[in-house]
Amino acid sequence: MSVEEKFGQLQQLAWTGATGPGGGQNDLAERAARDGRLGSVLNLYGAAHTNALQRSAVEESRLGIPLLFGFDVIHGFWTTFPIPLAQAASFDPDVAVADARVSASEARRNGVHWTFSPMVDVTREPRWGRIAESSGEDPCVTARFAAAKVRGYQGPDPYDLSGPDRLAACAKHFAAYGAVEGGRDYNTVDSSWQRLRNVYLPPFRAAVEAGAATVMAAFNTVSGIPAHAHPGLLTGVLKDEWGFEGVVVSDWNGVHELVVHGFAADGADAGRQALAAGLDMEMASTHLAAHGPRLLADGAVTGNRLDDAVARVLRLKYRLGLFDRPYTDEAATPYEPTTRTRAMARHAAARCAVLLKNDGSVLPLDRGTGTVAVVGPYADSNDLHGTWSGPGGTRFPATSVLDALRAAAPSVRFRHAFDGPDAVAAARAAEVTLVVVGEASSLSGEASSRSDLRLPAGQAELITAVAATGRPFAVVVAAGRPLVVEEWIDRVPAVLLAWHGGIEAGPALADLLLGDVPPGGKLPVTVPRSVGQLPLYYAHENTGRPAAPDRPHQPFVSGYLDTEHGPRFPFGHGLSYTEFTISGPTCATRETPVAELAAGRRIEVTATVTNVGERTGDEVVQLYVRDPVASVVQPVRRLCGFERVTLKPRESAPVLFSLGAEELGFLAADDGALVVEPGLIDVYVGNDAHATAHLSLTLTG
Ligand code: NOJ
Repeated sequence: MSVEEKFGQLQQLAWTGATGPGGGQNDLAERAARDGRLGSVLNLYGAAHTNALQRSAVEESRLGIPLLFGFDVIHGFWTTFPIPLAQAASFDPDVAVADARVSASEARRNGVHWTFSPMVDVTREPRWGRIAESSGEDPCVTARFAAAKVRGYQGPDPYDLSGPDRLAACAKHFAAYGAVEGGRDYNTVDSSWQRLRNVYLPPFRAAVEAGAATVMAAFNTVSGIPAHAHPGLLTGVLKDEWGFEGVVVSDWNGVHELVVHGFAADGADAGRQALAAGLDMEMASTHLAAHGPRLLADGAVTGNRLDDAVARVLRLKYRLGLFDRPYTDEAATPYEPTTRTRAMARHAAARCAVLLKNDGSVLPLDRGTGTVAVVGPYADSNDLHGTWSGPGGTRFPATSVLDALRAAAPSVRFRHAFDGPDAVAAARAAEVTLVVVGEASSLSGEASSRSDLRLPAGQAELITAVAATGRPFAVVVAAGRPLVVEEWIDRVPAVLLAWHGGIEAGPALADLLLGDVPPGGKLPVTVPRSVGQLPLYYAHENTGRPAAPDRPHQPFVSGYLDTEHGPRFPFGHGLSYTEFTISGPTCATRETPVAELAAGRRIEVTATVTNVGERTGDEVVQLYVRDPVASVVQPVRRLCGFERVTLKPRESAPVLFSLGAEELGFLAADDGALVVEPGLIDVYVGNDAHATAHLSLTLTG
């Protein structure tokens, strides 16, 4: 390969359908493909379209190296599943697997080889619009979903991505993008290595261990060094420590933005620093292709690093089978969701909703009810797909809650009003009212941060007005993030947090509201009382002066004067239509030598969950660990295991957890070594982050 051809392989250009500033580079891409100076294209899909451009690369360029087509298939291609944050709320990684498999099949058969997913950024910032794309605030949940999604996209063998139902995955954004200050998108991140190692990096490691073919660099700086040119992260941790053999791709214009950050002097300097740091492919901006040959000639970049980057790109193409079969079978292209994929999306969406509150007997709705008012701006809305819903989101409207309820309960009279006096009158005239409120899909996602997390204007007033009728009612919230609910939550007997549930959000909600499917999702994020408390997350450190939640307004403690301490709803919270008890934890081994843990020994802890109510329901049993005395201060608790179970009335089940060095120790800030220290470990089990049932294990020296 010539030097120009090598640098060409490191270039990814954008087709029209911009997902970043600047827009499509179609002409440039066509020319570069023919000249053999292009590695990849993003945002082009459709087998006929990708094949046409592929033909230029394969049949007209000197070496005939095929192009790699990348696309943001975030929670569905044609069949949109719930947003990733909602998927995490299912506490059921099989939901992510279902999305990933359907996405992979629909996208690959439409000419796409590579998805820029999963997003595995841990975030404690609901102001950040991209929380919708994340799995929330917890490293353990995020890591489990990261691995599940990678395996779902790529299949069981990460070295063979050649099948027509396989997509190369991309763990993004490396690293700590979820920690942007103030939750403002693209903002600065300042993080200790202790936090990187123990909070932000573990989900990436899980994705890499699951075989993720690629990793995308983050837009942000990490303690002063932009991630796109961070040798410690891209090479030190990712490639050297973890042995990642895949491709590190930039984010859109991320190489160019090194100049804007104030880190590189110009485009050539940006390209030099990014490549040297370990970046392998440049998205949208063109500094490596433009300046690379000169940088190489001047000795500013090494031939070894260049060849390594090129080899990584070519290896990925090989694993995708593109050298054997560069074209997509146009006769086998799906153009729409099928009955089967819709059923999968509906099942998934029902598993993701979280019943925040259910006092009284409004939910589930009785099919014998005469008239139900379904009011509010999202009652008859199709805007339920959520952010980044792919081509399916624009082509196939999501079924509204109202339409779905009418189809599911034809004997009930459903009356609809959007809002205002009509909605209140409808509530007065009905036996039961559902108020469906929320955020538009466009209020979350990239560049969609908010400083005010209350419901958009008028909606809290609608809830209050319906409450004032004194008639039974429930609230359904469709949103891309946890919202602040203080203005109205105490006046509402029942609240179902539906998130943005995708194409089948409406039917899934009908299933839940009518009690055909039991709600069982849990919060993968803390719901704050006010924006002023942020960041608020359960796995915080204790401080030297912790506030006692049951003793408000104590002096000289870590709290606020003007709000109650702690969250409105804790991480892990979610109800069902039945009640559960969780007994335990029990453990046969109370003392374990640290050396045995280091050698791979694991400790079994059991909890028993019983459905003590009258209906079949789902519970998520959660295990948290606390190390009360450590050489590095540990969080007050850390989730180390969870399992969702379905139980019939009076049915019990044991839930087994296994704790090893990884769960009982922590990662050293400097070299990432696993440290397990002698002493006590408290183990809690329960159904949210405030679980109280516990036992203590002793780790001996
Ligand atoms: C910018 C986003 O940060 C990233 O997540 C996405 O994959 C790329 N643009 C490509 O659209």
